[in-house]
Amino acid sequence: MDKRFQHVKWMMDARFGLFIHWGLYCINGVTEWKRSYERLSIEEYEQYFEEFNPIDFNPREWAKMAREAGMRYAVLTVKHHEGFCLFDSAYTDYKSTNTKCGRDLAREFAEAFRAEGLGVGFYYSLFDWHHPDYHHYGDLYHPMRDNEAYKDYQYDFNRYLEYMHNQIRELCTNYGKIDILWFDNSYGEMRGEKWKATELVSMIRSLQPDIVINNRLECNASAKGSISTANPTVYAGDFVAPEQIIPPEGILDDMGNDLPWEACCTMNNSWCYTPNPYNYKDAKCLIRKLVECVSKGGNLLVNIGPNARGKFPKPAMKVLRDMAEWFEDYGKSIWNCGKAGLGKPDWGYYTRNGNYVYAHLLQQEIGPIALNIPTEKIKKIRRVSDGSEVLIVRPWVTELFPEYTFINFQEPIQGTFLLENEIDTVLEIELKEEY
Ligand code: GLC
Repeated sequence: MDKRFQHVKWMMDARFGLFIHWGLYCINGVTEWKRSYERLSIEEYEQYFEEFNPIDFNPREWAKMAREAGMRYAVLTVKHHEGFCLFDSAYTDYKSTNTKCGRDLAREFAEAFRAEGLGVGFYYSLFDWHHPDYHHYGDLYHPMRDNEAYKDYQYDFNRYLEYMHNQIRELCTNYGKIDILWFDNSYGEMRGEKWKATELVSMIRSLQPDIVINNRLECNASAKGSISTANPTVYAGDFVAPEQIIPPEGILDDMGNDLPWEACCTMNNSWCYTPNPYNYKDAKCLIRKLVECVSKGGNLLVNIGPNARGKFPKPAMKVLRDMAEWFEDYGKSIWNCGKAGLGKPDWGYYTRNGNYVYAHLLQQEIGPIALNIPTEKIKKIRRVSDGSEVLIVRPWVTELFPEYTFINFQEPIQGTFLLENEIDTVLEIELKEEY
C-alpha cells in the first residue's frame, strides 16, 4: 500500500472493530434520527436529557467482550446528529456530565478500551440539531427544516464551525492518544471547506500526528472522494467508509491501487439501541462477512447500540460470545492478513499474511479439496485450530486437474475432509519462501 497510508497500517492489520452508537436516542429505542423524522423541537426532546442515567455503564466489560470477540479497536459516537455530547466539553451544557449520571462517558470509554489493548476511535457528527447556529430552515435533515417559524431565523454558521473546531480540539487534547476520528457526514453543499476542513485537519494532525481519519469530511458512504485521486485534498481522509455493504471487489483508487477501507454495518437492523430481539446477524454471518472483507483488503466495523442503562443488548452479547469462540481457534487468519492474490475459490475465501495463506472453508466438499496453488510451492498445510497436519493427496480421481493441489485428511482417497467448524474451518498453507 501507498506510503501515505503508513499510519493506517495498524488499523488495517486490526481488521475488525466495534462501532458503538450511544446517545439520548437509546431511550426511544427506535432510531437516532427520531428528532429529524418526527420534526421534534428541542423542548419536545428534552425529556430524554432529563432522564438519561446509564447506571450500569461499565466500559471495561464492553472492552473485554469486544477484545474476546476478535475486535481490535472501537469507535464511539461521542456526538451524534442530536448534538448530545458524551464528553465533558467546555463549549456546551448539552453533555453527559450535566445529566443525572454526571460522568464523562467518552473518557471512561477511552480509558477502558485502551487498557484492554484496543484502538480508540471517536465518531463525531458534523451536523448538529441542537446547536443554535447550525442550519435550520431549508436544511436537508434538520428537525426544523420545513418549519415556517424558522424561515427568518437568524444564525451565524461561523459560530457553529468555531464550536465544532473547539470540540474537536478538546477531543484531540483531553483524552490521550486517539487512534481514529470518524466524521459523519458531508451532504449536498455541506462538504470540505464548508466545514473549514483544511484548517480542521491541520489542527487535528498537529495534535494527534498518527490519527486515522475517515473520508466523510468530503463525502458520505456513497463516494470515495479525492482520496481516490492522484491529488487528494488535505481533508480527503485515510480510508474509505462504505456502509451496510461490502464492496463487491474491494476498493481501489483511480490508478488501480488498493485503498484502505472499512465497511460498517449494524448487528441487527438499527444503529441505535432497540429492544427488538430479532433481526440479529449471527456469528456465522458476521465472521464470514469479516473474512470476505479481509480477502478483499478491507475492515469490518460492526455496530452495537447499548441501552439506556448502559448495557449491550443480550442478543448482541450472545453474538459476541459466539464470535469469541471462533476467534479463539482462528484469529490468526484475520489479524495482519489481507488479500491473497489467488482469486476466489468455490469453497470460500483465501486470506494471506506473507508466506502464510489461509484457506477459509465455508462449505463441505464431497471429496478432495482443490487449492489453486501448485504443489511444489507449498511447504506444509496445517489446521489453524490445533496445528495438526493436513495431507496433500493425489488420488487418481484428481488426475484430470494437474494444475491444482488437493488435500484430504486421510487415506484411502474416498475419505472426505469434514469441516470441523461450521462457521469457517481454516487451514494454514505455508508457502516456500520464493512464492
Ligand atoms: C447512517 C445512519 C447514521 C449512522 C451512520 C453510520 O448514515 O443514518 O445515523 O451514524 O449510518 O455510518
